[in-house]
Amino acid sequence: MDAAQALASLMSPEGRVDPYPAYEWLRAHGPVAAAGPGLYAVTGHAEADELLRDPRVQVLDDNLRDGVMPQWRDSPALASIARSMLRTNPPDHSRMRRLAAAAFTPRRIAGLRDVVTAQAAELIDTLAAAGRDGRPVDFMTHFAYPLPVGVICALLGVPAADRPLFRRWAADLTGVLEPELTPDELASADAGATELRRYFTELVAARRRRPADDLTTALVQAHDAGDRLSAEELLANLVILLVAGFETTTNLLGNGLAVLLAHPAAADALRRHPEHAPAYVDELLRYDSPVQLTTRTTAEAVRVGGVELPAGSWLLLLLGAANRDPRRHPDPDRFDPWRAAPSPLSFGAGPHYCLGAGLARLEAQVAFPLLLRRLPELVPAGTPRRRIRLTLRGYDNLPVTVGRP
Ligand code: HEM
Repeated sequence: MDAAQALASLMSPEGRVDPYPAYEWLRAHGPVAAAGPGLYAVTGHAEADELLRDPRVQVLDDNLRDGVMPQWRDSPALASIARSMLRTNPPDHSRMRRLAAAAFTPRRIAGLRDVVTAQAAELIDTLAAAGRDGRPVDFMTHFAYPLPVGVICALLGVPAADRPLFRRWAADLTGVLEPELTPDELASADAGATELRRYFTELVAARRRRPADDLTTALVQAHDAGDRLSAEELLANLVILLVAGFETTTNLLGNGLAVLLAHPAAADALRRHPEHAPAYVDELLRYDSPVQLTTRTTAEAVRVGGVELPAGSWLLLLLGAANRDPRRHPDPDRFDPWRAAPSPLSFGAGPHYCLGAGLARLEAQVAFPLLLRRLPELVPAGTPRRRIRLTLRGYDNLPVTVGRP
């Protein structure tokens, strides 16, 4: 199979459900494989890491975006994402990122531990109540979806009563992180973005009038050396915090729980030693990455892994494949929480390294030991259904039985 065929197989519905065979077929053509005219698929860990950190490697600029997605300027969803730090290059990216990082500090994240623990405990109660009498319950509906939304709302200062709205808008919008969108997905993303932007506009105005101890206020107030976020940048980056922080974390919880339930001895060891949660979570991130890929273009020619990438090349950086690169991770298809330094690329690398990595890790490090301890009889019930997506890898539903709490 040549690299273009391997890539086509990755794009097929079967490849989206289980991309790992296609990654191996691509890897057979080298860590950086020419997979189409001007298109390179990167499966090597070292090569993906190097490219993500290389200043000549950039996210799509407006000109390129006009070429591949001309409707973006008229789409509230696509334009919001395009104006956020996720899809911006220096110098705008560096300025926005610096201001956002000054607001989204490790201290603020650490301060959320009690909120995360309380929300996780409450959701475990509802999961247990729904699964009383041995009925199968969906882990995604009762836990993996509501926890990240609840935590983001707490972080931003959104009242608990508005969480269902946020959950709906976030679900409407997640399609925008995929490389392609159907017209229906774009229409619902635009509807969600319009309502979400209206909500944030009011929240920002309220925090300007009366500051609170939340991330929205910190972003409104963020400034240094005369720099501030413009009104549009503020909205776009509030939107990206929800879009980037929601289904990604949901997928870490869903994918991670499925792996733990399939490895009862490892799950039992975590139940007895919750202090090992950080190593477990990093190995879960590596083993079945919630974000499988990101894309870049080369502003200049770049040589990597022995391959010359001309200026204007398109790069498909397959983070999920890099996480299983045998040159970096011996026996990569084995889940092994005792592996030394799993060093997942699941949060990316370089200037766009995930701003919320600390928060996502915190949620999973709190949630898994708590779930295993509070629900010792938690087991899978029936076949889970995967979402048919390329970028965000997760489950539509993950049925479990919970036993007696
Ligand atoms: C960027 C993954 C959770 C906010 C990224 C990137 C990845 C990623 C791969 C880089 C994309 C690229 O280079 O093109 C994940 C995963 C998560 C997660 C796997 C959960 C397991 C979160 C959370 C938040 C968040 C909880 C915030 C509440 C962001 C932001 C960026 C980002 C703002 C853009 C950073 C920039 O461009 O400078 N994330 N993320 N993420 N993530 Fe996350």
